Amino acid sequence: MSRENKKKRYLTITFGCQMNEHDSEVIAAMLENMGYDLTDDSARADIIIINTCCVRETAENKVFGLLGRLRKLKESNPDLVIAMGGCMSQQEGIGKRIREKFRHVDIVFGTYNVHKLPELISRVLEERRQVIEVWSSTPEAMESIPERRVSGPRAWVCIMYGCNNFCTYCIVPYVRGRERSRDPNDIMREINHLVEQGIKEVILLGQNVNSYGKDLDCQIDFACLLQRLENVEGLERIRFMTSHPRDFNDKLIETIAKSQKVCEHIHLPVQAGSSTILRAMNRGYDKEEYLLLVDKITRSVPGVSLTTDIIVGFPGETEKDFEDTVDLVRRVKFDGAFIFVYNKRSGTPAAKMENQVPGEVKSKRIQELIAMQNEFTLRSNENEVGKVHQVLVEGKSRTRDDRLSGRTRTNKLVVFEGAGELTGKIIPVKITNYSLTHLEGEQVFPSNDH
Ligand code: SAH
Ligand code: SF4
Ligand code: F3S
Repeated sequence: MSRENKKKRYLTITFGCQMNEHDSEVIAAMLENMGYDLTDDSARADIIIINTCCVRETAENKVFGLLGRLRKLKESNPDLVIAMGGCMSQQEGIGKRIREKFRHVDIVFGTYNVHKLPELISRVLEERRQVIEVWSSTPEAMESIPERRVSGPRAWVCIMYGCNNFCTYCIVPYVRGRERSRDPNDIMREINHLVEQGIKEVILLGQNVNSYGKDLDCQIDFACLLQRLENVEGLERIRFMTSHPRDFNDKLIETIAKSQKVCEHIHLPVQAGSSTILRAMNRGYDKEEYLLLVDKITRSVPGVSLTTDIIVGFPGETEKDFEDTVDLVRRVKFDGAFIFVYNKRSGTPAAKMENQVPGEVKSKRIQELIAMQNEFTLRSNENEVGKVHQVLVEGKSRTRDDRLSGRTRTNKLVVFEGAGELTGKIIPVKITNYSLTHLEGEQVFPSNDH
C-alpha cells in the first residue's frame, strides 16, 4: 500500500492532571474527525501529541526526556509530526527553547488554543516548517467542546477552566488563566449526551469546582449544578475535583448529604497543617478551620472518604510547622494523600522567598509523612475487609487482565473475578483482601444473601 493510501495514526502522551487528560480526549476527538486512527505504538504514529505539565520540575524533566528520545524517531521517520501542547507551552521562554534546542518538534500550541490544533497540523503539513502558536487568553465562545467518543462507564466533564486563587507556590493560574465557568446548559447538554452513550458516572473537573458559577451572569453555584445533575435519568454517580476548602460552604455539604448520586469521596487538598504556612501559601483558611470543615463533612456525610494533597518544605517551614502537618494528618486520618516536596516555580511569589528549606530536610520530612500516611491508608483499606460495596465495573483490571476492576462510591479501587459483560454495571462486591493501592473482593450473588 502506498503511503498516501495508508490510514494515518495518532498517539497522545499526557502528563499532569485530569484537566490535561480531558484536553487529550478533546484532541483525540479532533484528530479522529480529521481521519486519524488511534495507535499506542509511537513507531507507527504519523502524529504524536504531547500534552505537558509544569506544576513541578519532575513533570517538566519527563517531557524534556521524552522530547530527546523522539528526536531519533523523527530522524528515522521525517514525515512524523510532533506537537507539544499543555501547560509547559504557556510558560515564558518555552517557544525560544523549542526553536533553538528541539527543532524536531513541529508544533507548539497552548492551553487556550487546543481547538486550533487541526489548523496548525494542516499548516505544518503544507508548509513543512516549525509552527509555534501559543495564545495568552481565549474568547469564551471558543471553549465549546467537540463531541467525544467515550469508552468505559466514566467520563470527565470540565465545568470550569483556570484558577483565581494564586496559591503562592502554584504555576496553574499563570498557565491556565482566570476562572471561566462553562454555561450550565452546555454542561447539562454534554452530560445528557454522555449518558445516552452509556456513561454512568461523571467526574466534574475544575481547579476549584466549589467556586463554579461565580463569574456567570445567571444565578447558579456549584451546589445548584449538583442539584440539577441529580435529576439526569440514567446518570448513577457524580464525583468532582478539586475542592478548595475555602469555598466549601454549608449549602454544598447539605447538597452532598442529601444527594443519592454524589459519591462519598471528597478530595480536599490541605497543603499544610501549620496556620503560618497556610497564610504564606495564601490558602485562605487555617488549621482549625480545615479541621472544623472535615468535622462538618464527616458528620453530615456518613462513611465519607477523604483524600488530600500536601506540600512539605514550603519556604520558611520550621520543624514546628512540619509537626503541625504531622498532627493534622494524624487527626484526620485521610484515606489517601498525594504528598509532594515543595518545588520552586519561576514567576510564583514563593520562588522568590528567601527562607527556602534545604533539600535534605525536605526529603526527610516527605519520607516521614509518606510512611505515616501509608499506615493510615493501609488501615483504612483493612477496615473494608468483610464489607460489601457497590462497585461500578470499569472493565479488565490493568494489572491482571483475567480479573475485573471498578470503584466503590468512596473511590477505592476493587479487583475481583467476573465476566466481561459486567463492565458498566454497578454490582455488590464483598471485600476479601487489601493492599496499599487497592482492595480485592468477590462478587456477591443474590443467593449468597441467604
Ligand atoms: N487545583 C488543585 C490542584 C492543583 S495542582 C488544588 O488547588 O488543590 C495539584 C497539586 O500539586 C497541588 O494540590 C499541590 O499539592 C501540588 N503543587 C502545586 N504546586 C506545587 C509546587 N510548586 N511544588 C510542589 N507541589 C506543588
Ligand atoms: Fe494552584 Fe491553588 Fe489554584 Fe489549586 S487553587 S490550581 S493549588 S493556585
Ligand atoms: Fe499540570 Fe497544568 Fe494540570 S500544570 S497539574 S497539567 S493544570
